[in-house]
Amino acid sequence: MNRRLRWLGLLALVTLDCAAFAQGPVEDVPFVPTPQSVVEAMLKLAQVRPRDFVIDLGSGDGRIVITAARQFGAEGLGIEYDEALLERATKAAAEAGVADRVTFIKQDLFQTDLSQATVLTLYLLPEVNLALRPKILEQLRPGARVVSHDWDMGDWEPDAKIEVDAPDKEVGAQKKSTVFLWVVPARVEGAWRSRLGAGGELELELKQKYQHVTGTVRYRNVECPVAEATLSGDRLAIRACEERNRLLMVGKVHPDRIVGMVSRGGAPRTQFRALRDKPDAFPSFR
Ligand SMILES: C[S@@+](CC[C@H](N)C(=O)[O-])C[C@H]1O[C@@H](n2cnc3c(N)ncnc32)[C@H](O)[C@@H]1O
Repeated sequence: MNRRLRWLGLLALVTLDCAAFAQGPVEDVPFVPTPQSVVEAMLKLAQVRPRDFVIDLGSGDGRIVITAARQFGAEGLGIEYDEALLERATKAAAEAGVADRVTFIKQDLFQTDLSQATVLTLYLLPEVNLALRPKILEQLRPGARVVSHDWDMGDWEPDAKIEVDAPDKEVGAQKKSTVFLWVVPARVEGAWRSRLGAGGELELELKQKYQHVTGTVRYRNVECPVAEATLSGDRLAIRACEERNRLLMVGKVHPDRIVGMVSRGGAPRTQFRALRDKPDAFPSFR
């Protein structure tokens, strides 16, 4: 089927469950530019700043990376396999005066090392997003932001989702776009132990589905479920147990330790450091 027709068909079905598209093989993605109003909304939602390094997978005419450099002061890299588009993007970057901060390279987006991106932008297809998801979770550092135009990430729920007017949109009847944002979560699943002064040992047993964390806390022979947990990038906050056993904890997650502050039973906050119980069993996202 003509690739552009297929794209139009997909957009007509955008209200249907995107998971339906995730079953088939990953297909080529045609060039359809993101309207400028949507480009700006994507970069704003990702809170792009001068210290960011933005990678656009399938960069087309380069507009996302060029806008990230020109309007947000970031550095960027566009990955594209179409040579004519690469040439167009490189020329547009020079015309925009950002050639020293952006690069466009010919590469298959599935072969791209994503580890240096602090912001990753996508306007691909639902099944391509799903095929990239394990790589995104493996390679991007906790706290990196991923923004996708129109397509979600299956059961990885977005941290934010907005609708944007897109009068210049080349496809679809509604002239609106959806922008999804995810913050790459640190890996917290597993057992953690912390010695709390003379108070004894605190044990955390955590389960994780992307940014959603559940689990149990054990302290002085009292075990309670985690009542509330918030994980944003490498920042973890946990509330568990009630009254005199009430535990509030905020910390920064490293691969082998969580370092932060803890308060028990309303007592003043103290510093804590929890170590991963089995550092070799570093969990990976499935
Ligand atoms: C829908 S367009 C998006 C262009 C641009 N990111 C934007 O939002 O305006 C997708 C782009 O991905 C490129 N592309 C598709 N598959 C690719 C692959 N495997 N490797 C590199 N580029 C690819 C296409 O040539 C096209 O330019």
